[in-house]
Amino acid sequence: MKTVLLIIFILLMTTFIVNAQTNEIVEDIHSYAKPQLVKVTHVDLDWTVLFEQKIIKGSATLSIDRKDKNAVLNLDTRDLKIERIEISDNGKSFKSTKFVIAPVDNILGTEILVGLMPNTKKVRVYYSTSPKASGLQWLSPEQTAGKKMPFMFSQAQAIHARSFIPLQDSPNVRITYTARVRTPKGLLAVMSASGNSQTVARNGDYRFSMTKPIPPYLIAIAVGDLKFKSLGKRTGVYSEPSMLKKSAYELADTEKMVVATEKIYGNYAWGRYDLLVLPPSFPFGGMENPMLTFATPTILAGDRSLVSLVAHELAHSWSGNLVTNATWRDFWLNEGFTTYLERRIIEAVYGKNRREMEAMLGKQNLLEELSGMPEADQILHVKLEGRDPDEGMTGVPYEKGALFLRYLEEKFGRAKFDSFVKKYFASHAFQSITTETFVEYLNANLLEKNPNIVSLDEVNEWIEKAGLPKNAPSPQSDSFAQVEKQVKYFLDGKALSVQKIQKDWTTQEWLHFLKALPENLGSTKMEGLDKLFNFTKSGNSEIAFQWLMMSIKNSYKAADSRLEEFLVGIGRRKFVRPLFAELAKTPEGMKRAKEIYTKARSGYHPITQSAVDAIVK
Ligand code: BES
Ligand code: ZN
Repeated sequence: MKTVLLIIFILLMTTFIVNAQTNEIVEDIHSYAKPQLVKVTHVDLDWTVLFEQKIIKGSATLSIDRKDKNAVLNLDTRDLKIERIEISDNGKSFKSTKFVIAPVDNILGTEILVGLMPNTKKVRVYYSTSPKASGLQWLSPEQTAGKKMPFMFSQAQAIHARSFIPLQDSPNVRITYTARVRTPKGLLAVMSASGNSQTVARNGDYRFSMTKPIPPYLIAIAVGDLKFKSLGKRTGVYSEPSMLKKSAYELADTEKMVVATEKIYGNYAWGRYDLLVLPPSFPFGGMENPMLTFATPTILAGDRSLVSLVAHELAHSWSGNLVTNATWRDFWLNEGFTTYLERRIIEAVYGKNRREMEAMLGKQNLLEELSGMPEADQILHVKLEGRDPDEGMTGVPYEKGALFLRYLEEKFGRAKFDSFVKKYFASHAFQSITTETFVEYLNANLLEKNPNIVSLDEVNEWIEKAGLPKNAPSPQSDSFAQVEKQVKYFLDGKALSVQKIQKDWTTQEWLHFLKALPENLGSTKMEGLDKLFNFTKSGNSEIAFQWLMMSIKNSYKAADSRLEEFLVGIGRRKFVRPLFAELAKTPEGMKRAKEIYTKARSGYHPITQSAVDAIVK
């Protein structure tokens, strides 16, 4: 009798645990979706891209999985014009249904509640986007490299997919998607899916399909005068025709990177890996849209020195796209892992010294940023209540996250840690997970299996506390020690061996050199440096950015016109925001900032505009 009861008890407990796991309700404060009641599983898009009106017009047909037959469907939208909504029991015949549009929330957008019938299987929303959709940028021909045809691209992360698709816009609600896209003839549409055309069959009617379940922030589209060039067996690049040669040269190591990553972390899960090099207004460095990374043209330095961005976006094919943060609080799972993987790829393809230099630059930037940051924001597992998730995009999830993982690598040894990470990806493939789930998995599969190396308390300090733990890793490169010697020579007034430096130094060494100089160098010394090394004219965006920051701080007037050209020509937020912020620190600077911004603003993406609006107003 006792044993029977015990068995029943154990059986009950197991079902309970399993249920607790599969039905885990993850609260995403940045979405109105209630996937525990009704869950969208697939989105079929039928779009016409209208450049004159700067809108996408069409429909989104959502397949739904009903957990509660009485529940309504809660959708996320932002600035969408809803024409009508229809429902269907069989996916063939649709009829109108009632819906309610809730009041606008400034951060989250507009919730729409759609009435369903007990047997509804599909919901079709007819809608159009707003010309000021936060997730789209419309470029006039003058804003492109070719100057002849318009361009449009999307950027959905973190919560901008809802500004061009009505859906459950939470990374915890994975979906597959298909799309039919009509564009003006002569323009090519590409998406983060299969169906991208490598030949120039530009009939203005394109079809795409993403058959793997992805978080909605990875849905992406671009339309423009695009051409394709192959880089390798399963890699290639799209860009405007005039940028194609330069792009292909810069990105030539892409295939090698895919091979190197697979060797450590397991097979690439997505088929092709292509890149799209966008016009300079693209607000980010890169975006890991599956099968088709979007990238800024500011990585085209001419010497392949800024391709850690490719390593980064490629790494997201594992950390981010395969295993995804369940909510934006868990963003460090995406970016910390990816920054760590990025450096491993760099080491595999370009050697250890390049990895160490880039890791040192990363840590240095992080320490600077931390020193002026509220404690609450220094936490990996950050609280985002009442905030736009875009505000969580600091160096903390990236560099602190990467240092934490490097710490584990150093403690457990590379072999053990690599096999742990590989298994972590394989066992959570196509899942969205929380920080808690990761910590549990880490504890069960690494900490407890190798006792007395790293404690759970230490892990919690990394994840839940501000600042960097005292024993955080410190990357080391001899090259940087050499650079620091030259800095000292220069400050002591000694002559630098200019030719040798110019021959030997890579971008990373130049960046370290500039960062190691005192902030208040003075414009005379700036002028001396400029004569030696021509920094004002540098065609390397990272070096130019560093130099322009110094030029503002030191009132170095000879760089004035370059600064204006840089700010009007480039819309990458990482460069533009700090430059405007530095200008805005003095009254004369603010005056210049306003003058420049008058010329630059219309060319910026909505994301960059709102970042700069907050400074220059
Ligand atoms: N996924 C991010 C870009 C992103 C994050 C967009 C959050 C919107 C919200 C991408 O992978 C990224 O991290 N890009 C970096 C480049 C990287 C080399 C650090 C960037 O754009 O600067
Ligand atoms: Zn990233």
